[in-house]
Amino acid sequence: MMDFCNFFSALLPLLVLEKANITRTNHVMWTMGTDFKYQYAHTWFRQMDKFIHYVNQDGRVNALYSTPSIYTDAKYATNEAWPLKTDDYFPYADRINAYWTGYFTSRPALKGYVRTMSGYYLAARQLEFLKGRSKAGPNTDYLADALALAQHHDAVSGTSKQHVANDYAKRLSIGYEEAAKVVETSLASITRSSSKTDSGNKVTMFQQCLLLNISYCPSSEVDLSNGKNLVVVVYNPLGWKREDIILIPVIDGNVIVKDHRGNEIESQLVPLLNASLAIRNYYSMAYLGKFPSVTPKYWLAFSASAPPLGLNTYFISSRKQKATAAPSKNQVVYSSKEKQKDVIEVGPGDLKLVFSAKQRKLIGYINSRTKVKETVRQSYSFYTGATDIKQASGAYIFLPNGTNSLKPDHQALTVLRGPILDEVHQRINSWIYQITRVYKGKEHAEFEFIVGPIPISDGIGKEVVTKILTHMKTSKTFYTDSSGRDFLERIRNYRKDWNLDVNQPVAGNYYPINLGMYVKDDDKELSVLVDRSMGGASIKDGELELMLHRRLLHDDGRGVAEALNETVCVQNKCSGLTIVGKYYLRIDPLGEAAKWRRSFGQEIYSPFLLAFTQQEGDGWTNSHVSSFSGMDPSYVLPDNVAMITLQELDNGQVLLRLAHLYEVGEDKDLSVMASVQLKKVFAHKKINKVTEMSLSANQGRVEMEKKRLVWKVKGSPEEVPKVVRGGPVDPAALVVELAPMEIRTFVIDFN
Ligand SMILES: *[C@@H]1O[C@H](CO)[C@@H](O)[C@H](O)[C@H]1NC(C)=O
Ligand SMILES: *[C@@H]1O[C@H](CO)[C@@H](O)[C@H](O)[C@H]1NC(C)=O
Ligand SMILES: *[C@@H]1O[C@H](CO)[C@@H](O)[C@H](O)[C@H]1NC(C)=O
Ligand SMILES: *[C@@H]1O[C@H](CO)[C@@H](O)[C@H](O)[C@H]1NC(C)=O
Repeated sequence: MMDFCNFFSALLPLLVLEKANITRTNHVMWTMGTDFKYQYAHTWFRQMDKFIHYVNQDGRVNALYSTPSIYTDAKYATNEAWPLKTDDYFPYADRINAYWTGYFTSRPALKGYVRTMSGYYLAARQLEFLKGRSKAGPNTDYLADALALAQHHDAVSGTSKQHVANDYAKRLSIGYEEAAKVVETSLASITRSSSKTDSGNKVTMFQQCLLLNISYCPSSEVDLSNGKNLVVVVYNPLGWKREDIILIPVIDGNVIVKDHRGNEIESQLVPLLNASLAIRNYYSMAYLGKFPSVTPKYWLAFSASAPPLGLNTYFISSRKQKATAAPSKNQVVYSSKEKQKDVIEVGPGDLKLVFSAKQRKLIGYINSRTKVKETVRQSYSFYTGATDIKQASGAYIFLPNGTNSLKPDHQALTVLRGPILDEVHQRINSWIYQITRVYKGKEHAEFEFIVGPIPISDGIGKEVVTKILTHMKTSKTFYTDSSGRDFLERIRNYRKDWNLDVNQPVAGNYYPINLGMYVKDDDKELSVLVDRSMGGASIKDGELELMLHRRLLHDDGRGVAEALNETVCVQNKCSGLTIVGKYYLRIDPLGEAAKWRRSFGQEIYSPFLLAFTQQEGDGWTNSHVSSFSGMDPSYVLPDNVAMITLQELDNGQVLLRLAHLYEVGEDKDLSVMASVQLKKVFAHKKINKVTEMSLSANQGRVEMEKKRLVWKVKGSPEEVPKVVRGGPVDPAALVVELAPMEIRTFVIDFN
């Protein structure tokens, strides 16, 4: 050990001086440790003591134990002016051919689960607040902890071993079970009416359907021919009024949908085709250990609306049979004849997608309202993962060794049309299937992808991507989100402030897509939003690609020591993991796209929360509250503001975070100061005191501002951007101002 110390204590001053040469100020941070190193901390520190002793004998440097805050204070004390950096360092490579861009997609099912649970947690906490947090009963804390753990850099990233990934998922599942009870009792309490007759003491038992992604919902797959009503409570976690299409599986097509006023509303039946049924059967066996007892024939689609932080109730019942049952509004049109025509236009509203029956794929996008028309082709392909012993493609690293485009299967397109939505089914091959949906009243296309099991019998790992190809002139530039907030400009093979050498043209230009990405030309913007984090890029002008799934057979040597080879086992037979997910596409006139990206982005993250129960006869509305708003019924949040936290804390105080969704200059109408009236948000309660906090809510904003270091910025004062922030909150008026991209955090005491 002595020799080791001598050697390094002679070397370190040289390394430090080299680093100091390219570092501002004469303080250099030398980080110690890495994964697992402090499991034997005493041996670590004993060596470090000696090390520091010998390094300081050299005389050129002074080594000392430090901490990030001591280091920061020392930097600050030098009074240096610092250059501003607004772009980031992505993507990262630790050596040639080793771009850490594979983990953007690794374990797509876990990534999807984390995303679904985060959105659910947000809604569950709102409902926990609306009912009042229960000291004894179930709460949302376990789910909070599980989600926090899942944010670890080897958890949601997909870079843990399989048995560890299983544990993360198990914790989420335990947390969900408890949060679901909170949601169900809260909805029972909100819908229980005290003034109405027959409210009694009967507590409604609600059920939810977490597995709609595999077309499985026992609560809606029920026999209604006995005259029972299926009650569907639709809760909206957003601070805006909202309308959305609900799709639930039903076993019988002879049903009608009524709103809470008792009026029948338009609905549509969409046949559940084989591909979805196969996933349903296989995955209900994998998740629940049993096949479903019934087989739904259709998706029942209808449009639902709900007030901000509020709910509406819908009723599904059997249609009373009439002898001359005229074709109902529930239209099922299965137009297989369209095979003959080459060009097929789908979409019941302003948006039409154009498909070629011959090529069996998407070829165009037309919006008759905005007059946007664009050639859009969509295709699937896969990269083969490199297997070189020096560097393989693996959980962290994306290293493609060639690409294979997948020609669509010879099976004709299946087109299902109706008044509410059209669907196009495409079988790409035996392991990729796609359902494209266009809804009336929505101007985006929804792509549902079913990918897997990725075949490996040829001994080759595969990384599956979908590409969107247009003729747009995008001059190497595209935009991807940073943690779902600001969009950063990405330029292929280029960095503004240093000379970049990209030696992997694909992997070296990949970015994490959490909310979405877009490209633009002189007159339009093409945006894609995702349902979970995944990798994405624009490798050629006019093109976008998303990596949806990956299965690899070699370890990439960064610490997992396992191949990323996810499997699912049913009755001891294992096959590669299949994932079902969605992405959304829309093209807007230039400068008008941010509205959709921001507001629909919120809708993806916070879908309607559905709860089901059954009721004999039509008495529900007489005995229950069937429409409710958590805010003042005349109030909605401004279009540019979202409520990102509403949580009752242990001590009865309430934590509130409001976020401005737009960047400076992002939208001509919405990148402006917004204001939120807290009295209207909390119309059902009386606010006693509002305290503004730091973002993490562990200190008051005033105290934080006192301690905050004000750094000198390099450049002339005009170059330094002015930061605009909302003003202080007047304790009587209780109006919160938010400037573009601002997030404000409050702790509220109620009387
Ligand atoms: C769907 O599956 C059923 C039963 O497995 C089969 O009989 C039918 O031919 C399939 N239909 C199509 C269109 O593949
Ligand atoms: C790339 O693929 C070829 C076969 O197509 C194979 O011979 C070669 O070893 C692979 N290279 C790496 C780095 O995986
Ligand atoms: C991948 O998983 C399959 C299915 O469990 C298994 O047969 C195969 O040996 C695995 N391969 C590697 C390299 O882990
Ligand atoms: C379906 O959703 C559940 C819950 O979010 C998730 O755990 C599961 O991986 C999804 N299944 C598929 C096949 O994508």
